[in-house]
Amino acid sequence: MKHAEGILSGGGVAVLLDIFPGGMERVKKSLLEKFPDGQIETFVTDITSREKLCQVRDLLLERYGHIDGLINNAANNPKVEGGSKNLDAIQFHNFPLELWNDDIAVGLTGSLLCSQVFGQVMAEQGKGIIINISSDYGIIAPNQSIYRKEGLPENQQIVKPVSYSVVKHGIMGLTKYLAVYWAQKGVRVNTLCPASLENGQDPAFIQKISQLIPLGRMSRPDEYVGTVLYMLSDASSYMTGATVVLDGGRTIW
Ligand SMILES: NC(=O)c1ccc[n+]([C@@H]2O[C@H](COP(=O)([O-])OP(=O)(O)OC[C@H]3O[C@@H](n4cnc5c(N)ncnc54)[C@H](O)[C@@H]3O)[C@@H](O)[C@H]2O)c1
Repeated sequence: MKHAEGILSGGGVAVLLDIFPGGMERVKKSLLEKFPDGQIETFVTDITSREKLCQVRDLLLERYGHIDGLINNAANNPKVEGGSKNLDAIQFHNFPLELWNDDIAVGLTGSLLCSQVFGQVMAEQGKGIIINISSDYGIIAPNQSIYRKEGLPENQQIVKPVSYSVVKHGIMGLTKYLAVYWAQKGVRVNTLCPASLENGQDPAFIQKISQLIPLGRMSRPDEYVGTVLYMLSDASSYMTGATVVLDGGRTIW
């Protein structure tokens, strides 16, 4: 939602794609409360389907004639700190291929397909911006100790799954590959690494993670909007293939 706020505050048309209509419509409603004249398009779309993405692309081109930017944001994001029903299965040695394949499909294949479908339009236009959303876990390994709960058996301990690390590191590879691929076509491609957002987690977890962050706290959602707007605008015209890290300093120590 905050990425869309950046787009709307810059006078752009925010186009949301999500596989689940409910959440997306709630986001649209909140955006319209803040930007009553904002232009917002929503598409219920599975980003792992090239066919569906092509339908959205064709519709957007019919309506607007151009596509200026793409933010590859979707990822299976296990809210491990909030608890999960199948904790034993997400431990590395048990991690099921089915989950792995699904996480890779959404986080990497989805970004690949969106970049192919929408990025190619931008390359043909001679102008465009792609932002790939990674994470502080695209730079460092998860410190699993912050998810641990005293008194729980080992197989019930919460962990960040291996797929998350791999997807978030992979996103940076995609960025660098595309930044070079489209460098002469006016399409700039960069990675944004957000870090843990505070959203009502257990206070003990918040305290543990905050100790790992030089600024001493988790992030607020509104702390990304200005950077997204900067990355989408000509203010960042000399930036491509870069990694912008907004992590309160977590990855520097
Ligand atoms: N929340 C954090 O603390 C945090 C920290 C670092 C990085 N990130 C990254 O930021 C991004 C957004 O995080 P979030 O917490 O808002 O995640 P989220 O889970 O709230 O949002 C991801 C969205 O992707 C959608 N989605 C899943 N599969 C899809 C598919 N096949 N097709 C279309 N849409 C699909 C989901 O419905 C969901 O709305 C993610 O890439 C995440 O890894 C988040």
